[in-house]
Amino acid sequence: MNHYAYENDAPSLCETFSSYFRVGAAVNTWILDSDKNTEKENALIKHQFNVFTLENESKPVYVHPEKDRYDFSKFDRFVRFGQETGTKLRGHTLLWHGQCPDWFFYDDNGNEVSSEILIERLREHVTTIVSRYKGKISTWDVCNEVIKDDGSGMRESKWYKIGGKEVIKEAYRAAHKADPGARLILNDYGLENGDKKTDAIIAFVREMASEGVHIDGIGLQMHLNLFETDMDSLKKNVGRILTLRDDIPGFRLEVTELDMSCYRWNDKSEDIIWTDELEERFICQYSTLFRYFMELSEQDLLDTVVFWGIGDRYSWLNGFPRKHKNFPLLIDRDLKFKDAFYKIAELADRH
Ligand code: GLA
Repeated sequence: MNHYAYENDAPSLCETFSSYFRVGAAVNTWILDSDKNTEKENALIKHQFNVFTLENESKPVYVHPEKDRYDFSKFDRFVRFGQETGTKLRGHTLLWHGQCPDWFFYDDNGNEVSSEILIERLREHVTTIVSRYKGKISTWDVCNEVIKDDGSGMRESKWYKIGGKEVIKEAYRAAHKADPGARLILNDYGLENGDKKTDAIIAFVREMASEGVHIDGIGLQMHLNLFETDMDSLKKNVGRILTLRDDIPGFRLEVTELDMSCYRWNDKSEDIIWTDELEERFICQYSTLFRYFMELSEQDLLDTVVFWGIGDRYSWLNGFPRKHKNFPLLIDRDLKFKDAFYKIAELADRH
């Protein structure tokens, strides 16, 4: 009989892997207080996870919606939760093309700003946020998704079009100055299977390191799926990223947004019917993955694995890229552990 993950006597994901890495989840602030509507979810996060990312409410559109107005209410609540529970917190994210307000890019007359002004605005944004949480947020996804999907260069975002690579590098400089003790990450998706994209991110991080721009590691989002994620290719590409150890002392990986969609990326069919065969596949993919994570941790290369959501019911994949019931996580819609959890827990026991 599988456990409800919120029960006191249920096994705990973060305890299971405590000698390897922290296990975490993306959460939103509604879950951080326990009232009659959130009691189970609140108990679950406290029991299961020891590192957290704020799923949406720390993104620029919420925190810095207007040039002269910050709104730290949600972010402050998140940080208080980390202090109350003694858990590790990740800051996500300071520069991204998504969920970013337009004011960064235009002046009062609606004209595009110069690269100097954009860099100045960015510097102020990063310095204000990172200084406020100095010593409280241990890792920042400073920049998110700055490389083009086909690896042919930097993503043509508004940030890049106006400020070039310099705007991205400046984000790292300002973050490091504001909190020299924070780990600074460049976060992206698809690095496990996109050979060219992986080459491009390696080259960019190497360039930063050679210019003395402080960066500690790469965040592998790992939005995987049951059919298209090839574990051999994943290991090969992660192995290539790890050559950055030669350029950056103490280089680290963090798994930042893990989930395993049950649809191919472009699948537009009806809701999937869960079968034993899919269950087997799910168990097999997660087992291979966690075995690999444990190996990376044994080599001191990975200390943080964060799921993008606490359980299937709350996954973004139920609404994106289409409205489909999805089953990507180890905890199901009723907040019960799936069999896959017990299988990966056995791996940790055996070591
Ligand atoms: C990307 C972003 C996250 C989140 C997910 C989907 O991976 O980095 O912040 O928006 O997409 O929810």
